[in-house]
Amino acid sequence: MKGRILVTGGTGYIGSHTTVELQNAGYEVIIIDNLSNSNENVLDGIERISGIRPHFVKGDCTDIDCLKKLFAEYCGIKGIINFAACKAVGESVQKPLQYYRNNLNTLYNLLELMPENDVKCIVLSSSCTVYGEPDENPVTENSPIKKATSPYGNTKQIAEEVIADYINSGAPIKSTLLRYFNPVGAHPSAEIGELPNGVPQNLVPFLTQTAIGVRSELSVFGNDYNTPDGSCIRDFINVVDLAKAHVCALDRMLENDDCESLETYNLGTGNGVSVLELINAFEKATGVKVPYKIVGRRAGDIEKVWGDTTKANEILGWKACISIEETMRTAWNWQLKLRERGIM
Ligand code: UD1
Repeated sequence: MKGRILVTGGTGYIGSHTTVELQNAGYEVIIIDNLSNSNENVLDGIERISGIRPHFVKGDCTDIDCLKKLFAEYCGIKGIINFAACKAVGESVQKPLQYYRNNLNTLYNLLELMPENDVKCIVLSSSCTVYGEPDENPVTENSPIKKATSPYGNTKQIAEEVIADYINSGAPIKSTLLRYFNPVGAHPSAEIGELPNGVPQNLVPFLTQTAIGVRSELSVFGNDYNTPDGSCIRDFINVVDLAKAHVCALDRMLENDDCESLETYNLGTGNGVSVLELINAFEKATGVKVPYKIVGRRAGDIEKVWGDTTKANEILGWKACISIEETMRTAWNWQLKLRERGIM
């Protein structure tokens, strides 16, 4: 065993895939999750894939007493990966206080408890949203940070700054800020995947629900952008590839003396793919047609953004390797599994 890792929000989409990869790499995982946007059954999926059931605490990271109890019960936690956060851009505009309170109080509590519990390091799930509408693509970790366009995006920017200030103050911890591009797809086993509440706001879950007939038509938000086919461009990264980067980041902080106390990495594929290209990739990979129509632009959307991932490739020794077609196949197999289980 490599040591104990606390994964907050570990029954969620990225948290569950990361738990599998941590266990595969020999870490012992303790999950804390309030199940506000996930389900305890996810633990069964994780166990079926990795053969190990992670420890599970149902609790809220904004409750510091709950975290204190957790650290008392599970001694010797070496690192934290913090996924516990609200993540819907639109909802954050409607409920800003909920977003600031939840996402930031969670972080403050974790940071405060780290030194006294001898927890050495924390990985923050941040986002390419910090780059806003970039002046040029691909963006590097040194590209300018733009004013956030939503409270959700702002919580990511503030979280990055809080960690930097805490480390600058001399706190005895290390941190890695991981800026995700657009995580998509599911585990190839179809045992775990994304399970959005209600009508999906993000492209891929809406697409797969349309392909299976739960939704009648996918709306493509705009074909008049300054891009080759007029639709927006994103860097769609396979969730398993993404999960593996967290293991690399933890290994580096725990085992490598060269590691700085604060490091930041872009996690993407390095390639931009348009919304229309993504629909094509899905149809090619699965043979299933996706009914779609072009509608007006969605307010607040970025025209194009993709990441330069050289730093993660060279320093973390990590590279996204799963193709977009393969990723679309996993997203589809997950959707089929949800239907089989009568969930969707
Ligand atoms: C947003 C956030 C990102 C967050 C991600 C997942 C911003 C700028 N981006 O990414 O930080 O990590 O959500 O929560 O805050 N689209 C359609 N039809 C749909 C849905 C989407 O055409 O039904 C298009 C969108 O216009 C966009 C692309 O698909 O061009 C991707 O959209 P989405 O999946 O919602 O992710 P982002 O907005 O890129």
